[in-house]
Amino acid sequence: MQVIVPPIKSQGIKTKLVPWIQLLVPDVKGRWIEPFFGTGVVAFNSGFSQALLNDINPHIIRFYQAIKDRDITPESVREYLERESKLLAEANDKGYAHFRLVKDRFNKQHDPLDFLFLSRAGFNGMMRFNKKGEWNIPFCQKPERFSKSYITKIVNQVNKVACLIQPEWIFTAESFEQTILKARSNDIIYCDPPYIGRYVDYFSGWTEADELRLFSLLSETPAKFILSTWHHNDYRENKFIHSLWSKFNIVTRDHFYHGGGKIENRKSIVEALVFNFEANIEKHNAYVQPKPEQMVLFEQRSEYIKRKLRRG
Ligand SMILES: C[S@@+](CC[C@H](N)C(=O)[O-])C[C@H]1O[C@@H](n2cnc3c(N)ncnc32)[C@H](O)[C@@H]1O
Repeated sequence: MQVIVPPIKSQGIKTKLVPWIQLLVPDVKGRWIEPFFGTGVVAFNSGFSQALLNDINPHIIRFYQAIKDRDITPESVREYLERESKLLAEANDKGYAHFRLVKDRFNKQHDPLDFLFLSRAGFNGMMRFNKKGEWNIPFCQKPERFSKSYITKIVNQVNKVACLIQPEWIFTAESFEQTILKARSNDIIYCDPPYIGRYVDYFSGWTEADELRLFSLLSETPAKFILSTWHHNDYRENKFIHSLWSKFNIVTRDHFYHGGGKIENRKSIVEALVFNFEANIEKHNAYVQPKPEQMVLFEQRSEYIKRKLRRG
């Protein structure tokens, strides 16, 4: 499966796990519902024509809504990045002076194009906001960051997501509870909340109370759901797997997780998918090769997504 990569970056991005997640998606006729949208990589590879896409971070939602409304187009992105890249390359302090200017401008005006700039010029493709909700990632320290080929890569990514965003994709910036409550029996909810006990910032605070609320909403939803969470690492287990989520089906898989300041957070963690429907679990569990007929289903789904992309 060729994974479509979105133009926004973040440390929690699920790019590498998309094929594994999509393999589990059941055949439903309703909407793709994503209460914790993030960069959007999972939804963009879902192939659904109807979707409810939500994140509490309004900058993410404003950016994709602007693409949907054609307020941001591949052409406007190219024009913006070409202009800003020149200013960055010429700026004092090895480009930092201009990075600071864009950061300060974004923190006052919240322009989605400045958000894109910061996401792509920040250190290590990270997204973090301080206690006041201001952008809080330093410059990647490359004044020539936006080379011609890098700009073209970003423009192509914007173009791809612009083609994928359907008229019936609804974007909202609310807390996850409201979004989950909108789900109906023929929908699939994919939940990727901040991993409990791991990483926190202004938009990604996540407490035990949040985890419990999520559990109770997902326990009661008439829809099917898939939840991404972590299972264990070399140091500890996610205690909520045992106390809450083991009531549902669970599959696991190793994943190297880059984010987080603590050393233990940089180690390999075992990813889990929790879900409330029947599936052949064997094929998803770590180190188990998919069986041929399951591969066929997987390829059919990839073909379907590719066809949708070609049609635009
Ligand atoms: C792990 S990230 C999602 C990553 C996404 N699946 C991807 O691949 O890019 C979690 C997201 O949840 C959002 N979030 C945190 N608390 C939330 C809440 N209470 N309601 C809705 N979204 C929330 C964060 O802003 C963040 O974008």
